[in-house]
Amino acid sequence: MSKEYNVAILGATGAVGRRMIDQLAKSTIPVKSVKLLASSRSAGTHLKFRNQDLVVEETTPDSFDGVDLVLSSAGGSVSKKFLPEAVKRGAVCVDNTSAFRMDEDVPLVVPEVNPEALKNHHGIIANPNCSTIQMVMALEPVRRKFGLKQIIVSTYQAASGAGQAAIDELKKESQAYLDGKNMQEDAKILPTKGDKKHYPLAFNLLPQIDVLEDSGYSHEEWKMIHETKKIMLNDMNSKDIKVTATCVRVPVPIAHGESVYFTVEDESATAEDIMDVIADFPGDVLQDDIKNQIYPQPINAEGSRDTFVGRIRPDYENKGAFNMWVVSDNLLKGAAWNTVENAEYLVKMGLI
Ligand code: A2P
Repeated sequence: MSKEYNVAILGATGAVGRRMIDQLAKSTIPVKSVKLLASSRSAGTHLKFRNQDLVVEETTPDSFDGVDLVLSSAGGSVSKKFLPEAVKRGAVCVDNTSAFRMDEDVPLVVPEVNPEALKNHHGIIANPNCSTIQMVMALEPVRRKFGLKQIIVSTYQAASGAGQAAIDELKKESQAYLDGKNMQEDAKILPTKGDKKHYPLAFNLLPQIDVLEDSGYSHEEWKMIHETKKIMLNDMNSKDIKVTATCVRVPVPIAHGESVYFTVEDESATAEDIMDVIADFPGDVLQDDIKNQIYPQPINAEGSRDTFVGRIRPDYENKGAFNMWVVSDNLLKGAAWNTVENAEYLVKMGLI
């Protein structure tokens, strides 16, 4: 009989955690048992896995006794505290936070792009940042066929990237705005929890995701630059592909959009060639039919595991340069699904 796994979901009550439960239920992973972990705040909450009623438990180091696989999305500091404890007890962890992403012995993996990196794990595998995942999903087939020289990306990121509380905040502010009330006082989380100032997102745009650093970039922009290099080139500081990013939070609840400008080594590539390789790449869906106004939109991407790509067109002023528009559900391919998919690959590759 094939092995069955005892799985723990850390952060099970969050926007990503709830989707991890659902993605695990739909996955090919043979599950023996599921343990749902969160903080003391939600201990005792009842949630369903398939038809089973499960009670959420407060997380302690001993919660990981007997656990084979941990899927975690409870924030970086929680991962730092508990995942080493889980590894000590023999578990393999796929972590959706940024806690370990840049550690040299931690693979940073999008399974369609760099699955071989999983073989180098020492108990922890990091799930990349949501905006990075959908960008490398769209660009990897292009890199493989035509070579990539440069990426310039501007993101249009959904509120849910900052958790369930940010979605609730956006809804509250939107209602206040429509009721003609002051929405400033509803802004308590965005742009970034714990930062000095908070601004409303409803009917607004916030060019800050995560903290602003002395370099002038936000930490989200830093992540897009260095995670892309680590995933595609196995070197977070490689100069072989130049990457720069501007990250903006937009008043959309779920699914990020990205305007991606890129240049390729093979300047004979046409927009049709780019469309062909993207259409053939597993997990990518080409939605590019301008005659019929077909292009990716967040409201259509919500709930899907796929990455949608469209508006692919050449920069007529520069050879070998293109623009495109990429949309994906940040909570699924950008988080819960990519985490569970990494776990599926670990199982298939015999790495747990
Ligand atoms: P809780 O519901 O008990 O607060 P989101 O990203 O949507 O904000 O969700 C964060 C998730 O991380 C929630 O499941 C939350 O649980 C969990 N979490 C937050 N702090 C801790 C902690 N100290 N220990 C364990 N889980 C935590």
